[in-house]
This record gives sequence, C-alpha cells and structure tokens, in this order.
Amino acid sequence: MTSSPHHRPRGFSDSFAYATCKTLRFFADLFFARRYGHRAIVLETVAAVPGMVGATLQHLRALRRLSADGGWIRTLLEEAENERMHLMTFIHIAHPSPLERLLILIAQGVFYNFFFMLYLLSPKTAHRLVGYFEEEAVYSYTEYLAGVDSGIYANVAAPAIAIDYWRLAPDARLREVILAVRDDEAGHRDVNHGFADRLSSPPAHPA
Ligand SMILES: [Fe+2]
Ligand SMILES: [Fe+2]
Repeated sequence: MTSSPHHRPRGFSDSFAYATCKTLRFFADLFFARRYGHRAIVLETVAAVPGMVGATLQHLRALRRLSADGGWIRTLLEEAENERMHLMTFIHIAHPSPLERLLILIAQGVFYNFFFMLYLLSPKTAHRLVGYFEEEAVYSYTEYLAGVDSGIYANVAAPAIAIDYWRLAPDARLREVILAVRDDEAGHRDVNHGFADRLSSPPAHPA
C-alpha cells in the first residue's frame, strides 16, 4: 500500500492541517536535509505521539458519553505502538547527535501539548493533520529507499528487532525494513484521513 492518495484540502480545517504539515516539513527539510536515518529517528519520536493522544481523548470521550468507541481507541493505540517500533528499529541504523537528542526533548514538549489541544478542540483537524504527516512520511521513505537503491546509503543488514517485528527473512536488509515501514505509514495515512472524513459527517461516528 504505497500509492499516494493525496487528500485535497477542503475547508478551513483541512487547509490549517495542510499548512501546518507543510510548514513543519519545511523545517524538517532544512534541519535534516538528506540525512534520512537521523530524520527518521527524530520524526518517529514525534509520530508516535498522536495515536496515544487520540486514544486517550477518545477513551475519555467514551467514558464521558457512556458510549462505544467504534474501535477507534485500539486502532490509535496500535498506531502509537507501531510508530514506536519504527523508532526502536531506526536507533539501530543511525545514532542521534546530542543536538538531535535535545531536539527530541523540545519537540516532544511542544508537540504533545500542541496536539493534545488541537485534538481537544477539533479531532477532525487533528486526524487530518496526521493524515498529511503520513503522506509526507510515505514520500520521505520513498526518497530514503531511492537513496539506498542508488548506493547513497549503505543497504545494511536489518536489525534483529525489525526482522522479528515484521517477520522479515533472516537475511533481510535495510531496503526491506524501509518498505515495511513505508507500508505502515501508508496505512496510518489512510486510517487518519478516514477518521477525519468520518468526523466531517458526524452521524458516521458514535455521538
Ligand atoms: Fe513511522
Ligand atoms: Fe507514521
């Protein structure tokens, strides 16, 4: 699942999400350029936040409203865990610098609170934003893959944790890991755009 069904922004909420995503992408490009291993580590520490925030707030919502969650909580928790596994994989591939470790701390402090408030105010916008983040993630991992294929990045052996998690062949390489991660990102993209769509047409989501 690596095609790129881009969701065209419709209305203010989508446009806000799209502009936020593109702004953050601009700064990520500026900071990391083509150091994809390092980029993956820092950005996966951010990518693992929305699922947990969304799950927490959907959980609280279900409790408040005494209503079923429609399976959203588990889906979002699984997304958070999956993103954390991306991180656990890439720390075997690249080693963040002290500056990047500082950036991770700052990014988490800012992004967790930003995303929590956004989700509280507009879950639809929050899911749309994640959908756009994931579109960018698919794009970035495609570029990373092209770099591996052209020899810019060494096609090192896949870490054991990745072989276990994605059940890759014992002799799998970085290439197979990137393909597996990119598939995950495409899945998150579709799920989050789907959630945003359902929140745009309220009857589809349990009130
Ligand atoms: Fe990821
Ligand atoms: Fe992702």
